[in-house]
Amino acid sequence: MNQKKKNLIVFGTRPEAIKMAPLVKALQEKSDNFITKVCITAQHREMLDQVLDFFEIDPDYDLNLMKPNQNLYTLTADIITELKPILEDFQPDYVYVHGDTTTSMSASIAAFYSGAKICHVEAGLRTFNKLSPFPEEINRSIVGRVTDFHFAPTASSKANLLKENVPEDGIIITGNTVIDALNFSTKKVNDSEFVDDEIEQLKSIVDSSKKLILVTGHRRENHGQGFINICEALKEIAIINPDCDIIYPVHLNPNVQKPVYELLSGIENIKLIQPLSYPSFVWLMNLSYIIITDSGGIQEEAPSLGKPVLVMRDTTERPEAVETGTVILVGTDKNSIVDETQKLLNDTNAYTQMSKLHNPYGDGFACERIVNHILNTKNLAHQ
Ligand code: UD1
Ligand code: UDP
Repeated sequence: MNQKKKNLIVFGTRPEAIKMAPLVKALQEKSDNFITKVCITAQHREMLDQVLDFFEIDPDYDLNLMKPNQNLYTLTADIITELKPILEDFQPDYVYVHGDTTTSMSASIAAFYSGAKICHVEAGLRTFNKLSPFPEEINRSIVGRVTDFHFAPTASSKANLLKENVPEDGIIITGNTVIDALNFSTKKVNDSEFVDDEIEQLKSIVDSSKKLILVTGHRRENHGQGFINICEALKEIAIINPDCDIIYPVHLNPNVQKPVYELLSGIENIKLIQPLSYPSFVWLMNLSYIIITDSGGIQEEAPSLGKPVLVMRDTTERPEAVETGTVILVGTDKNSIVDETQKLLNDTNAYTQMSKLHNPYGDGFACERIVNHILNTKNLAHQ
């Protein structure tokens, strides 16, 4: 019998967990072929645990690294140092990292030192602007340099890698695993046995007679003046539109919590709430009229739900939804955020144009493609 291939999946933040959860399940299902272990850095803690609970993932290793208001230097160093004994002990053939976080970048470097083959899920996203998003653009470029298997979500992400002279036979277009996660979540929530206390609580704050504007934000390059502008824009939108409710699950980063709670508390039609579990957030996205965000993942989910998204950034590495019209980049200028929101609220044609259902990011079978590719790969790292 063939030797089983050993997989180590490493992630640390909420979005990585959401997008890696279906891959964990898909690899674990192939237990005749693989020994699969999960290592969380816990770069995020509560926001990561929410996802692990929902997807019922019990990590084999928990580095438990999150510190309040952590910095990039020590987080990077800690991840590399703490992964060393795990890599030496388990000796994985394949290490899977996702996207562009500090966890992904540091884990890919550690995996490279260990001699494992590196699998990059959500490979090839680029803005080609070193500082936007910061530090993610450089993180994903570094991961790309050490990666053996680039699982690119779209043709345009593959094209970005080819521009960087990545060999074509190492690039596999899979779609984005976020759609696999979205489908998993929708199926689980629609199961008659599924009960979610958080969704029940949310029902008491959602006013169905009003249009719902859903907001999230966290990007490092928006910390400081960017968040002040965002909050001032939201305040003005709330005042001009008493027939709308803004619901804002506030990211736990203190650089976000402080300005948001200081500037937006006490406004009647702005509801500031804790970060939501994934199924509750998907439920709320489905009810929303407009989404205003600087998130990467939400830009990918919204087209599948037919929701217009105003993105509070100057650049995006996800051009597909801009091209098909679901996403508009509004930056963090107060007037742009207010003007584009008012246009969507008052111009039915503009709204209809932006709220078409489409799936530029995948068909829900990304994980199956990744697993099949690894199953058909012959080489083992440590032979
Ligand atoms: C990180 C990622 C970013 C990703 C985002 C998703 C980096 C550099 N940044 O940014 O790419 O888009 O996650 O949300 O990798 N905190 C908590 N509890 C939590 C999570 C965070 O208290 O569950 C607080 C802590 O004080 C922590 C701080 O938020 O130190 C910042 O967390 P960090 O992961 O460094 O940055 P994010 O802005 O979350
Ligand atoms: N999300 C969530 N709860 C929330 C807000 C967002 O589960 O309260 C989900 C959202 O559906 C998406 C992901 O978190 O899948 C996006 O995470 P985030 O915006 O923090 O990171 P990014 O995608 O920008 O890296």
